[in-house]
Amino acid sequence: MLEGPDRTQLVSLLAWYGELGIDSVLADEPLNWMERPGTAPGEAVRAALSGAAHQGTGTAPTSPSPPPSPPPTPNRRATGGEQPPRTQQASRFTPVTPQAAGAGSARQAAAAVNSLSELRAALERFEGCALKATAKNTCVYRGAEQARLMIIGEAPGRDEDLEGRPFVGRAGKLLDRMLGAIDLSENDVHITNIVYWRPPGNRTPTPQEAQVCRPFLDRQIQLVAPEIILVLGGAAAKSMFNASEGIMRLRGKWKQIEVGDASIKAFASLHPAYLLRTPAAKRLAWRDLLNIREALSKSSD
Ligand code: URA
Repeated sequence: MLEGPDRTQLVSLLAWYGELGIDSVLADEPLNWMERPGTAPGEAVRAALSGAAHQGTGTAPTSPSPPPSPPPTPNRRATGGEQPPRTQQASRFTPVTPQAAGAGSARQAAAAVNSLSELRAALERFEGCALKATAKNTCVYRGAEQARLMIIGEAPGRDEDLEGRPFVGRAGKLLDRMLGAIDLSENDVHITNIVYWRPPGNRTPTPQEAQVCRPFLDRQIQLVAPEIILVLGGAAAKSMFNASEGIMRLRGKWKQIEVGDASIKAFASLHPAYLLRTPAAKRLAWRDLLNIREALSKSSD
C-alpha cells in the first residue's frame, strides 16, 4: 500500500478525476480517444456514411468515394495502435453528417424489429451512436413489456450503466416511490430513456445523440403501446416534444407524441434527480403525478 506524498498525490489525482466526472474504470491502461488513428468513436458511422453515399442519396461525391473505414476492433477499449492512418481521401469525405448516417442505419435496424428482445439485439449490434463506445452496457428498459404508462427519462447514469437497466440508482429509487404514491409498481409501467447508453461523465445527451436513438425509441413505443407517456426532465422533454423551452414551461401540460400512425397522450414532469437536489419542487411533481393518476383512471373507464 502506498504511503506518504505518493499516496497524497494519488488521492488528489483521483479526486480531480472525480470532479471531471471520471468515476469508473474501463480498462487497465488509460486510453486517449483522440490518439487512436482510424478507430475514434463513431468510426462505424463513417463506414455507414460511405455506404449511404454509394446508394445514391443525391449527396455522392463527384470523385470516386473512398473505401469504407475499417470496422471498430471487437474490443472497443483496445488502443488500436497498429491501425493504418486514415487516407487523405477519407478525411475529405463529408457529404452527410455522422448523425444523419447513424439515424439512417437506426431507422433501418429499428424497422426490422418485432419484439423487445429483438430491439435489445438490434441495439447491441448498432454502432451508430458514439455513446456506446464508452458505456459498459446497453440499457433498454425495466418494467412491463406492455404498459398503459411508459416513462421516458434522459440517459443512463453510472448505476444504470453497471446494471444495464434504466433508473436503478438514487433517482430510480425516488421514481419508484413516486409511482408507489399513485399505486403503481414497476410491473405497471415501462421505463426507458431517450438514449440507451451512459454519456461519459453523466453529461446531458446531445440532441444529435437522442436523434440517432429515436428510431429505436419510436419502435419501442409501438411495441409497448402505452396510453400515456410520461417524460421526465428537460432534456427528454425537449427531445420528445421537439421543443426549445425549459422543463418549467413544458411540464404539467398534456401534449401528443406522434409515432407512426398513432398519436399518444404525453405529459412532462420534473426529473427525480432534480427533485433529489430541490426537494421544494416535489410539490409540482406531486401535482403532475395526480394528473397522471386521473388520466389513467379515466382512460380505464
Ligand atoms: N436518470 C435518467 O434520466 N435515466 C436513468 O436511467 C437514470 C437516471
